Amino acid sequence: MLELKNIYKTFNPGTINEKVALNGVSLSLNDGDFVTVIGGNGAGKSTLLNAVAGTWFVDEGSILIDENDVTKLPEHKRAVYLGRVFQDPMTGTAATMEIQENLALAKRRGNRRSLRPGITKQEREEYVSLLASLGLGLENRLTSKVGLLSGGQRQALTLLMATLKKPKLLLLDEHTAALDPKTAAKVLSITDQIVNRDHLTTLMITHNMRDAILHGNRLIMMSEGKIILDISGEEKKKLTVKDLLEQFEKVSGEEFANDQALLG
Ligand SMILES: Nc1ncnc2c1ncn2[C@@H]1O[C@H](COP(=O)(O)OP(=O)(O)OP(=O)(O)O)[C@@H](O)[C@H]1O
Ligand SMILES: [Mg+2]
Repeated sequence: MLELKNIYKTFNPGTINEKVALNGVSLSLNDGDFVTVIGGNGAGKSTLLNAVAGTWFVDEGSILIDENDVTKLPEHKRAVYLGRVFQDPMTGTAATMEIQENLALAKRRGNRRSLRPGITKQEREEYVSLLASLGLGLENRLTSKVGLLSGGQRQALTLLMATLKKPKLLLLDEHTAALDPKTAAKVLSITDQIVNRDHLTTLMITHNMRDAILHGNRLIMMSEGKIILDISGEEKKKLTVKDLLEQFEKVSGEEFANDQALLG
């Protein structure tokens, strides 16, 4: 579903701020793979997702989504393949619009006749059932303005919107990091539910090693623009946070910052 072949990205080349952010990354995801991505600050995790999304072009290497070469495709054209959710609950939804209007926007994404006003009864029923599946009571609040929702409710809604058109790839960049632990756990369980229901191929960055172990069928660890660990299947199920810390130190020769969030 996703094939990254030896990609490189250097920011500000030839200047004092030169930074090699991706240093020869190859990665191949099968249909339905749910991959968690961990690594220290500045390891290149967000850059990896941005490379896939086409925020800019990579310097070298190629990117295929479902066998389509998108390496030179601009971001807006790649968007048809992708659903994305970011860390900040304010970014994925339009605060001044109603819940149902936000969903309708997501539904009409990529449609030429997207300015058609009004939401049909059938659509409303679809939204009610999708919202009900979140278990947050939002199905009774279709006409509430999104700005009134909590951060967790907004992230859950953003997830629904990002997955409404069943994207080929779902990209999650620490989408629960701004939430309190209980809400984060709820949004993660909703994430599991949607990914499993629609069999979505997913890349999920997290700072929390426990979450990285608990979710998905495969885990990759990045350091200095490289993938330094790639564990899947039964081996992943047996992982512990201690294993991950040891592996990191062994492979990279450094120690993870003693960051509580990181340790989970
Ligand atoms: N647009 C940009 N311009 C310049 N440098 C950038 C840009 N984006 C990322 N970088 C640099 O590339 C490196 C990798 O950044 P990236 O955001 O991918 O890290 P990360 O693994 O997501 O870290 P974090 O856990 O802090 O989010 C960092 O040194 C960062 O400063
Ligand atoms: Mg990041």
